[in-house]
Amino acid sequence: MNRSDFPFLGFGVGLRRPHYTHILETHPAVDWFEVVTENFMVPGGRPREVLEKVRERYPIVLHGVSMSLGSTDPLDRQYLARLRDLARRFEPAWISDHLCWTGVGGRNLHDLLPLPYTEEAILWVASRIRQVQETLERPILIENVSSYMAFAASTMTEWDFLSAVAEQADCGILLDVNNVYVSAFNHGFEPERYIDSVPVERVAQYHLAGHSDHGAYLLDTHDHPVPPEVWSLYERAVRRFGRVSALVEWDDNIPEFPTLQSTADEARARYYSAAAAGPAPEAQCHQA
Ligand SMILES: [Fe+2]
Repeated sequence: MNRSDFPFLGFGVGLRRPHYTHILETHPAVDWFEVVTENFMVPGGRPREVLEKVRERYPIVLHGVSMSLGSTDPLDRQYLARLRDLARRFEPAWISDHLCWTGVGGRNLHDLLPLPYTEEAILWVASRIRQVQETLERPILIENVSSYMAFAASTMTEWDFLSAVAEQADCGILLDVNNVYVSAFNHGFEPERYIDSVPVERVAQYHLAGHSDHGAYLLDTHDHPVPPEVWSLYERAVRRFGRVSALVEWDDNIPEFPTLQSTADEARARYYSAAAAGPAPEAQCHQA
């Protein structure tokens, strides 16, 4: 992959159904939209009609939840062919999915489940990402998921696992800053170590979101404003990774669109102030 495969889009928000009318009627000033791939795979109908109109005015990115890159089931060739067709039609800036598995034995568990962090899993997932990239004829981004339990078989940290998979697959990374924070709390590691360890040249997008505090653990619910701890982790990431597109994810208790828009504006303001402050002490300069 090259950095130019993932252009800087600025500060966007997820395209969500409650906002369709507002967006089509007012053309709000956001830089780009991320759409959940699976909601637009069926030709015809309202969702595709909305996406046609959104695409006329904004860059979009396709963000999927169904590749099941870590599963031991065969890759879903039919899904990938439909995704390739969707990408040819809408020309997204890029395609992303998660570093996880979502089912096995033909059963879909409808959840983004973590992998054991082992050499064997690195080889397995990286080879599948390479197959996906060949089918889609482009490099993809893989996103770190949040987790609540760890595999006893793991032999390395999550950030070493993510970095090794991305290197071996030669793909990019969608760094979900909230997921880093949630998993750091749940597993008891320092989130700054994660940010400081991921390869600079592979990070091409951030996710910013809120979570729920359940006392003993944090739950990745995407139903709250971005909390101060996640903002400060984002600023650390900006100082290390440089010019990287950011996206506000809000999937439940979805507020009015202006709230999402002002969150994207806050990401922009924090980006410029953090970038002006220069690299964090342990960080290295971004090589564009
Ligand atoms: Fe995310």
